[in-house]
Amino acid sequence: MNKALLSPSMMCADLTRLEHILLQFEKEGVEYLHVDIMDGEFVPNITLGVDFCRLLRRLTVIPLDIHLMIVNPENKLKWFDIRPGELVSVHCESAVDIRGCLKYVRDIGANALTDVSPDTPLSVLDDLYGYIDGVLIMSVNPGFAGQRIIPNSFDKVRDLRARLAKRGITDKIIEVDGNISFENAAKMRDAGADIFVGGTSSVFCGDCIADNIARLRKILK
Ligand code: DX5
Ligand code: ZN
Repeated sequence: MNKALLSPSMMCADLTRLEHILLQFEKEGVEYLHVDIMDGEFVPNITLGVDFCRLLRRLTVIPLDIHLMIVNPENKLKWFDIRPGELVSVHCESAVDIRGCLKYVRDIGANALTDVSPDTPLSVLDDLYGYIDGVLIMSVNPGFAGQRIIPNSFDKVRDLRARLAKRGITDKIIEVDGNISFENAAKMRDAGADIFVGGTSSVFCGDCIADNIARLRKILK
């Protein structure tokens, strides 16, 4: 099983304290910064954007984990100035040419993931395994922080791990995103997840980010 990595959801961060938060993340060795890009069409919300990605790259060396919840991602990937080593996830439900999107990301040297929303069956991935570095399993409906986890999300992660193992595939990332609380993180780790998007119910809950990260690390050992 891959090492458990943290990717705090930056739409949940207090942006008035952004630099302080990023310093804490660097000190705690946080591996990625999860940036939710929403266009108000694919999901009924508009959040962070291209300029925010540029700002983060100026402020920190922590690589971005860009979650694209947008229509026509094919035409917009080039706007993000994607860097080698970043994670970029594209919803399989949003793209006409998902393989083209994944190839674009991989050709840059970034990690290409496809996102699967709660109502989307894993069978959509059957012909994509050769094009991806991983899968982001949405455990809430994409669009808003602070939601409750959809109960069958744990089984979905377990099922994906089993499908991969059946094909002899062991190196794919499984990222989980949506109400990854301390309790849910433990269950998701047990189910086979390895990148955890921490939002309002873990990394950013209460007022001590460092304690929350230490608590997650202990749970995800
Ligand atoms: C929801 C976003 C998540 C969200 C996580 O569409 O993809 O990253 O911000 O926030 P919590 O952990 O509060 O669900
Ligand atoms: Zn997200």
